[in-house]
Parts: sequence; C-alpha cells; structure tokens
Amino acid sequence: MDISFEHVTHVYSPKTPFEKRALDDVSIHIPSGSFTSIIGHTGSGKSTLVQHINGILKPSNGTISIGDFVIKANEKKQNLKALREKVGFVFQYPEHQLFEETIIKDVCFGPMNFGVSDSEATKRAEESLKLVGLPSSFWHRSPFDLSGGQMRRVAIAGVLAIRPQAIILDEPTAGLDPRGREEILSLFKDLHKNLNMTIIMVTHNMSDAANYSDQVIVMDGGKPLMADTPQNVFAQAERLRKVGLDIPESMEFLKMLTEKTGERRTITAFTLDETADAIIDILNGGKEHV
Ligand SMILES: Nc1ncnc2c1ncn2[C@@H]1O[C@H](COP(=O)(O)OP(=O)(O)OP(=O)(O)O)[C@@H](O)[C@H]1O
Ligand SMILES: [Mg+2]
Repeated sequence: MDISFEHVTHVYSPKTPFEKRALDDVSIHIPSGSFTSIIGHTGSGKSTLVQHINGILKPSNGTISIGDFVIKANEKKQNLKALREKVGFVFQYPEHQLFEETIIKDVCFGPMNFGVSDSEATKRAEESLKLVGLPSSFWHRSPFDLSGGQMRRVAIAGVLAIRPQAIILDEPTAGLDPRGREEILSLFKDLHKNLNMTIIMVTHNMSDAANYSDQVIVMDGGKPLMADTPQNVFAQAERLRKVGLDIPESMEFLKMLTEKTGERRTITAFTLDETADAIIDILNGGKEHV
C-alpha cells in the first residue's frame, strides 16, 4: 500500500486572523513496506502531515493516495472507517486513551469497533499483547496498574489488533526512559521486518531516525526539504543545521575525528558497531581491517 501526497496544502483556521499554512505544496512518496521517519524543527508541520494519512485532517488543496484510497481537497463523504482499518495511528501519549477495566478488554475495543466478533477480537488481542511482549499474567488486570512503558505497549497492542497495513507513530517514545525507548523502537523494527508493515515515525531523535529508517523526510516551514536515505540526509550537516536540526551523535563524533586526523572522506556510521568500524578505518588510513 503505497502512500503519496501530491501538492498537498493544509491551512488551519482559513480566512481568520489565526490563519496558518502548516503544509505548503507537499509532494512526497512513502513506498509500501518502508520505514519512513519524519524529522523537522518544532512547528515545521510533521504532525499536520501525518494526520492527513488516516484522515484526521483533510487537505485544503491537493490529493493524498493511500493504496487505492484517495482523499482530495473539497471532496465530502469519504469512508474514513475503511481507511482507519488500514492505517493505525499511535498518538504521542497513547496510554491516555486507555479506559477499559482490563487490559484485554481495552485491546479488544479496536477490532470490535470495526465489527469483528468477540472471539476473533479476543484472539487478535492475545496475539497483539504477545507481540508487544506483555505476559498473559497481566491481561486481566487493570491497565492503570501498569508502568508508563507497559501502558504504552497496551495502547500499541490496541492499534495492532486492528491489523493495519501501515502504522503512524507521532513521537512514540516521548516520556519513556532509555530502556523503554529501545524496547518500543525494536518492537516497530520487528513489525516492519517480520510483517512487512509500513511504518511512519515522527521523531525529534536524529539517531533513531538514522538507525531505524529506510527513508528520512525533513520538514521545514511546511515543506519537505529532503526525502532520501538516512545516509544521504545526514551527510548534509550544514543544510540540516540551517533548519535547526543536528546530525546523529555518531556522525558528529566522526566529523570531529576526521577533521582532527586530516581525513578528507565523509564517513557515515549510525550504530555503535558501524562507528567502531569507521574509527578503525580512519586510524588505518583507509586500509581494510580484519
Ligand atoms: N489546530 C491548529 N490550529 C492552528 N494552527 C495550528 C494547529 N495545529 C498546529 N498549528 C500550527 O501549524 C504549524 C505546524 O504544526 P505541527 O503541529 O504540524 O508541527 P510539528 O512539526 O508537529 O511540531 P512539534 O515538533 O512541536 O510537534 C505550527 O505553526 C502550529 O502552530
Ligand atoms: Mg508534532
């Protein structure tokens, strides 16, 4: 299910003193099964952009295609329920949306809302809770007795139980400790790899964007400034700095090291392992290491 935006503009509160053009002629493509990160300074239009993908917001101009589902500006009557079954949305603090007495009931809510039978919803809920790594001893407890990270897993299981083809994450690791962050991100990496799910993640963390995605889209003032592989995007440190963004720490470190050693190449490394290899490479003067 490919996703594309063609000349999409979004204006909040049009024709009022609060008018704000949050998206300005955006044309982007998100291939089916890709892991795309969206980065950009605060207020650059990231949330506005992703909220168009499952119809929370409608374009003021332009067209969005999500598989064979088409959303056009000024077109009324659209079956958004069918779209939301294909595209799941995980809000910044999804745990705030938990409300049922038990965890399992909470996770069943989504599929039942889409007309799935009780027994099928329970089956899907159990499967999703296993996917997010919440042991069955928890399932019949209240979701409000859980830790922050565990609550977030339950909320994510609720979205997975709908079995969407694509999942949008708007800053999915906000407020989590480093371990919780790592766990949630690995979960999405696995879903992407094992279930070929399309993942679209808004993040302020450059290392996460670099480590997990195939494509990085950089937003600036409501326009996509770059859309490329993380290697190509983060090789452009100066351009990113101009729009208020940093490069991942590993790249920052290698940049400093190459300057100090007089090395002329731009070396890309995102993970600790890649960084260690790059250092050996620089210290060996570019010769292969064993
Ligand atoms: N409901 C709204 N009404 C009016 N203006 C809005 C509304 N929501 C967002 N905006 C404005 O639109 C612009 C883009 O906002 P958006 O929330 O998409 O940015 P963002 O990149 O997600 O920022 P952040 O990193 O802070 O979450 C900002 O200038 C914001 O103030
Ligand atoms: Mg936002």
